[in-house]
Amino acid sequence: MKLYDRAENIKKIIQSEIDYIPDAAVVLGSGLGAFANEIAVDAEWNYCDIPGFPVSTVAGHAGKFIFGTIGGKKIAAMQGRFHLYEGYSAEEVTLPVRVLQLLGVKNFIVTNAAGAINLSYKPGDLMIIKDHIGLFCPSVLTGENDERFGTRFPSMSETYSRSLIHIAEKAAENSKTDVKAGVYCYCKGPMFETPAEIKFLRTVGADAAGMSTVPEVTAAVHAGMNVLGISCMTNMAAGILDQPLTHQEVMETGRAVEKKFSAFLKEIIRLI
Ligand code: HPA
Repeated sequence: MKLYDRAENIKKIIQSEIDYIPDAAVVLGSGLGAFANEIAVDAEWNYCDIPGFPVSTVAGHAGKFIFGTIGGKKIAAMQGRFHLYEGYSAEEVTLPVRVLQLLGVKNFIVTNAAGAINLSYKPGDLMIIKDHIGLFCPSVLTGENDERFGTRFPSMSETYSRSLIHIAEKAAENSKTDVKAGVYCYCKGPMFETPAEIKFLRTVGADAAGMSTVPEVTAAVHAGMNVLGISCMTNMAAGILDQPLTHQEVMETGRAVEKKFSAFLKEIIRLI
């Protein structure tokens, strides 16, 4: 079945219970459970109960599509996401974005965990993504283009919406959260980067490294959505500190900043 038809089927299932277009959709990276818990839920689906939906395999990613209210706004939240490194195809990774597109969602917010490349950052810092580097990994738009989703050659000149960045800056101010703004580099994973790779990425202007986000964001831009990305620095990237990186460290820092991150995100949504 074509991706469009798969997305259309799932859209219909959602519309059988949800009769509004969410003001925003949010992809919750690991460590945003507190945010998910604050949503006044209208309807939710476990990924495994949605026909044709992939199932997330990473510890810390629960796998739920939630519709409800937070900060006075209607949102669609994806708790748990799909990564290419898990072996999912580009279609599987972008299917949720396509469902949101068909639902008519205009504002797409992605969050993620990332390693800090910028030496002035520290673990626990939040970063508004100003732009990204996705050159090193295949594009999710590779292959036949379905014009119903978007144009063959989408512009990536304003991948991250200026107006949403402005809202995020205001939200940082309102919630008294110190937030950085920088460039996210999409790295293949699932292995962390080498120290030489991180040094190289710093030289080419990256501030943070992560293994997600760019695939969904690319589809969202193709879909004509306004995109906002927020990274949580869960660790200093490889080679900065004299210690190996672990997924546990990523999870622990994620948990430690959960409250701050959730409050910030909620304020962004309130301002949208
Ligand atoms: N590199 C890539 N992805 C990550 C990292 C990192 O250091 N930390 C959390 N996600």
